[in-house]
Amino acid sequence: MKKKLLLFAAVVMASAAGLNAQKSATISVRASEGTEIIPKEIYGHFAEHLGTLVYGGLWVGEGSALPNVNGYRSDVLQALKDLKVPVLRWPGGCFADEYHWMDGIGPRAERPKLVNTHWGGTVEDNSFGTHEFLNLCEMLGAEPYVSVNVGSGTVQETAQWVEYMTSEGDSPMANMRRANGREKAWKVKYLGIGNENWGCGGNMRAEYYADVYRRYATYARNYDGNRLYKVAVGPSEDDYHWMEVLMREAGSRMNGISLHYYTVTDWSAKGSATQFDNDHYYYTISRTRYMDEMLQKHIAIMDRYDPSNRVGLLVDEWGTWWDEEPGTVRGHLYQQNTMRDAMVAALNFDMFHKYTRRVKMANIAQIVNVLQSMILTNAQGGMLLTPTYHVFKMYSVHQDATYLPLDISCDWIDGGQRAIPLVSATASRNAAGVVHISVSNVDATTPQTVSINLPGVNARNATGEILTSGAINDHNTFENPDKVKTAPFRGARIERGVLTVTLPAASIVTLALN
Ligand code: AHR
Repeated sequence: MKKKLLLFAAVVMASAAGLNAQKSATISVRASEGTEIIPKEIYGHFAEHLGTLVYGGLWVGEGSALPNVNGYRSDVLQALKDLKVPVLRWPGGCFADEYHWMDGIGPRAERPKLVNTHWGGTVEDNSFGTHEFLNLCEMLGAEPYVSVNVGSGTVQETAQWVEYMTSEGDSPMANMRRANGREKAWKVKYLGIGNENWGCGGNMRAEYYADVYRRYATYARNYDGNRLYKVAVGPSEDDYHWMEVLMREAGSRMNGISLHYYTVTDWSAKGSATQFDNDHYYYTISRTRYMDEMLQKHIAIMDRYDPSNRVGLLVDEWGTWWDEEPGTVRGHLYQQNTMRDAMVAALNFDMFHKYTRRVKMANIAQIVNVLQSMILTNAQGGMLLTPTYHVFKMYSVHQDATYLPLDISCDWIDGGQRAIPLVSATASRNAAGVVHISVSNVDATTPQTVSINLPGVNARNATGEILTSGAINDHNTFENPDKVKTAPFRGARIERGVLTVTLPAASIVTLALN
């Protein structure tokens, strides 16, 4: 009840008169109430055979003129190692339901060349396949998350793929893997049974897919100590019927169920990634905040069928989707990334953390050169880190830490689709007992002073970093790759148990309290 009152009291719409005056807000961290761990998998990624993500972005091949480690692009590899990628989903996306894994094993020169019909009609030479993906995961220290082909594949294909990757036995698939140069089985934890089977994965009805899921999941076996975490295809956005049917018909046979939601302002005219005004920015934020309502409603359905909270909700595709950059190949989904995207990332993390009891993984779409990516590359050897990359890095302190619930009292603004709070935050305590807090000033034009009450937290200093830039549409280019970057934050002080931070317009801060 108290929480409800706080929320309503906070809905004070920004008046025109107050727009440029400094605003203030308060946050109360309920530091003694933390019970849930924020799984590091919430910071997961997604790599589809799409555009220049795999070919050019991750993989250039051993013969490339670009510096590479066994064919993986060296600069990208290092940037991803720095990011601590916990889990990587592959090979799609829509591509997964057209992918036949046996095309991607054996000597590379002998692998068939195909047309990637889904994404721009590009030639797929299959030089990046199962070995290349699983070896990359090992190099990054990331859990592999493999999505199998349900839409146009067979149960046998899935069963054999799992055997090929994970069996140590004297069996046909394990022996084929050995003949292809890999003696020891890999550990593969996450197995997605299809992708968007309500759409590009076969246009199935929920009732039909639930049975298909049960069939595929039956033959995806656990070999030699490898324990699969089987993920059913879940709803698109707010399709609560799909969630209801899947949980009812197959909930007891799955470990997790997915949810896909993209921050799109208009599917028929997505808009430029870099050219937008403040109204469009706030509209984007309001579309992003819809995630909160969807998580709440999907989780309520899951709670009815799975009261013991066994099944995880995996938001395995999320992020912004804008027009492709002018001059790039249609269907390759190559888009720029601004401070607006950074804000979308920070707010999504804050929402995933809030529902961390159920949300066990999230995978932003996608890791390099596609949609809201971490990294952009070009064929000449250019590479840049996007503002979204910096948010992932700053927020990484919350991985595997205990979520500390908090209440925010701040101004709200009309975002078009819904009113949006102008402050968002996450607090957590790590295994060493250090409390970290991330706070965002969503306001595009006005600084805010935020007072953070921290009862029970004994800290004298708050140190950390800020991500902000002169304009909300600032972004990094190959010519100016550091226009948007993090900087040490000097606007924090702690007095009598209250942390006060002054945040510039459109900024994101993460602090460690010592
Ligand atoms: O991420 C791009 C596409 O979006 C994926 O292939 C698909 O699953 C979703 O519709």
